[in-house]
Amino acid sequence: MGNELKSSVNVIPDIEEYKKLPHEELNRRINRAKKLKNVVLLVHNYQRLEIQEHADLLGDSLGLSIEASKTDASLIVFCGVDFMAESAKILNPEKKVVLPHDRADCPMAKMVDLEGLRALKKKHPHALVVTYVNSTAEVKAESDICCTSANAVEVVRSLGDKKIIFTPDRNLAIYTQRMTGANIIPWEGYCYVHDSLSEREVELAQAEYPDAVFIAHPECPMEVLEKADLITSTSGMVKWVDENQDTVNSRGVIIGTEEGLVRQLQKKYPQGKIFPLFDKAICATQKLITLPYLCRAIEIEQFEIEVPQDTRKKAYLALKRMIDILPQD
Ligand code: 13P
Ligand code: SF4
Repeated sequence: MGNELKSSVNVIPDIEEYKKLPHEELNRRINRAKKLKNVVLLVHNYQRLEIQEHADLLGDSLGLSIEASKTDASLIVFCGVDFMAESAKILNPEKKVVLPHDRADCPMAKMVDLEGLRALKKKHPHALVVTYVNSTAEVKAESDICCTSANAVEVVRSLGDKKIIFTPDRNLAIYTQRMTGANIIPWEGYCYVHDSLSEREVELAQAEYPDAVFIAHPECPMEVLEKADLITSTSGMVKWVDENQDTVNSRGVIIGTEEGLVRQLQKKYPQGKIFPLFDKAICATQKLITLPYLCRAIEIEQFEIEVPQDTRKKAYLALKRMIDILPQD
């Protein structure tokens, strides 16, 4: 073990010290720590490109956690937001899970309060609670089953004709209600990045790129979704672009989600006509993780995610019920 790593064990280096280092030095130290430790680096699609470049696995929140549970790494560094790292911990309790920035949280996940959810459950005692993975561990623990943006429709269909309380994203709830016809009571939460997109942005983008296919994330409001050719999660968007290169190169594609995913696709396919629906659709907390924070996290293994045992066990059941209905590969 070299001096940098040895000294980092005893003295907790200040983030300001990392911020003084040039990018090449940070990249070198991250790569070095990755080689020395039994670590897997999970990176969400909305992260900065310089963070995506270090990913062992790059993808959507749940896909990353499921993949993590298949690795033998003892340390998971999750570059994303807190609910993703929490899900990784819930699914991998024996592993150490680290989030590189202590303020990397998801405002939508915090829009559900336990008291309010319990009161709603009391009002609808026969309803099942379906909770989007973009939620806290406590809310997952209070839920019957989780879903992702990729499988919300499938999860709700699996519940038959039961009344459903859907938290926290009202846009995903309304979209799922339209697709399934289920009796859904939406929680009034939303993702500020997607909810701020409107019909106006779609009209402007389609006027500029009239032949392009338009793909939207289901966290967008219905007025945006109604104009989309395809509605899917971030991993669904990557899959579509991977599989439709001729269309991407000829007609082009407008991507209605956070800019980190658009940049990822533009980098992967420099010749492709890949356009953001709105180039200022940026999730501020996803962008808090920069190279100095990643370098510090992987060297000193901070900030560690803990989920109390009782909450973890209940939240695990809600996640596991969802995983059990996913197609097995
Ligand atoms: P997915 O990557 O699961 O589609 O989630 C989008 C999102 O908003 C994550 O914060
Ligand atoms: Fe939360 Fe939206 Fe940011 Fe995703 S993009 S972390 S849902 S605020």
